[in-house]
Amino acid sequence: MTEKKIKEIKLQHLNTRKFIAEKIKEIATVVGNGTAINALSGGVDSSAVTVLGYRALGERLLTYFIDNGLMREGEPEYVVGLFKKMGIKVILLDARKEFFGKLKGLTDPEEKREAITQAFYKDVFGKLVKESGARFLLHGTNYTDVEETVAGVKRQHNILDQLGIDTQKIYGYKVSEPLVQLRKPAVRVVAKALGLPKEIYSRPPFPGPALAARVIGEVTPERIKIVKHATKIVEEELRRTKAFQYLAILHADMVTGVRSGKRDFGSQIELRCWDSKDAVTAKVTRLPYPVLEKIAKRMTTEVPGVVSVTYNITTKPPSTIEAI
Ligand code: XMP
Repeated sequence: MTEKKIKEIKLQHLNTRKFIAEKIKEIATVVGNGTAINALSGGVDSSAVTVLGYRALGERLLTYFIDNGLMREGEPEYVVGLFKKMGIKVILLDARKEFFGKLKGLTDPEEKREAITQAFYKDVFGKLVKESGARFLLHGTNYTDVEETVAGVKRQHNILDQLGIDTQKIYGYKVSEPLVQLRKPAVRVVAKALGLPKEIYSRPPFPGPALAARVIGEVTPERIKIVKHATKIVEEELRRTKAFQYLAILHADMVTGVRSGKRDFGSQIELRCWDSKDAVTAKVTRLPYPVLEKIAKRMTTEVPGVVSVTYNITTKPPSTIEAI
């Protein structure tokens, strides 16, 4: 693994206005009079990059929302609509076939992450870059993503350089990462200063591999549908908590349940709710039992096939926040 030294800018040392001005200048210089492309997922990192890129390049930045089929319910339309209100055009691209095609038959977590990287950078962006003539991809990689990949915790889907991947050689474009020196809390400050709405800059983190990070075993459209539904319930019920992140995981094992006096062999959902500052370490949120019971009740009545709901009470480490 080739590690290029990146110097962290700690939140207490961040001069937000200066940072923003420098990054806009940097993007404008690197791209010159060419075109750049970026993918917006609606998370705080890619949203901040979209605004920085837009301020630097205007219409010469092509922003895509890649519908990989792995996002939360209604997410593509919601995010595209939010940016439209800010005057930034986002092109919605249906890439569900590419992603599910690459994930087919895979159960190993790192192989699944690798498949998502390939679908994203090679299949989808390789093609888009060729068609548009763009030579740069602006990416919202942050300091924690690099650190976790380099440390060998888990391969973050957006890490290339640190894994020795020469994007110019393999995919035909360069990757530029304006936020790579910041951790999430600092990115939130930058996002707020860029004028992004609170629903974006204070959004709980969401992983790049999206709901695939919450499916143990094979990622199929049917299994994503279950986790999508479960995620909606968890987010509705826990939105008002001060927790750092909350999520639903679909297990690979089926378990025996009972419904209407008859055996019902069904799925298990694991609920996780974390208290954390920066996702590097985390502790379980001590949710009240009535809240947990309400979630369990909703999961087993509203999500078809779910017969068991568990609550994860470990810490990170040794757990990680997501399941894969
Ligand atoms: P883990 O599961 O490694 O997650 O404890 C730490 C934080 O990072 C998010 N996460 C990701 N974010 N690309 C990202 O941009 C990824 O591949 C990825 N995997 C996990 C996770 O939601 C948590 O906030």
